Amino acid sequence: MIQKSLIILKPDAVRRKLVGKIMNRFEENDLEIKALQMVHISKKLAENHYAEHKGKDFYDTLIRFITSGPSIALILEGENAIGCIRALVGATNPNEAKPGSIRGDYKEQPIKSVTENMVHASDSPESAKREITLFFGKKYL
Ligand code: RTP
Ligand code: MG
Repeated sequence: MIQKSLIILKPDAVRRKLVGKIMNRFEENDLEIKALQMVHISKKLAENHYAEHKGKDFYDTLIRFITSGPSIALILEGENAIGCIRALVGATNPNEAKPGSIRGDYKEQPIKSVTENMVHASDSPESAKREITLFFGKKYL
């Protein structure tokens, strides 16, 4: 099944100049870029995007981090793209992310925090639809 997913290269990826390396992982795995923009995520967009985490102990740190500098938002499309991209990105905690995954290979040593894990990727078709609309509008659905 051909799917689309919303990806964010988070502020740490931009600051650490990892954008090219991370994009290369996606392109090498046959994912097609359908849209791309650099965006300094506002507090309002961050709160909307991460609404499911409101009230959790890491929420305020997460909102502060994701709004701390420019990010790159993109839509990727491919066969089973949502699961495929989550596998390429790896576990949420970079210390638990396997070698070969983006979070496993490009983590800082020692890692700063679980928060700074370089990449966001949609976790379901429903999330992808919601997140693509938030960042790019309905014309890309
Ligand atoms: P994402 O939504 O960014 O793709 O990451 P994910 O699905 O792998 O992880 P999720 O549970 O949705 O958490 C969202 C982001 O919150 C930060 N986080 N910090 N224990 C912690 O300090 C903690 N847990 C999560 C990470 O930036 C994570 O990607
Ligand atoms: Mg998530």
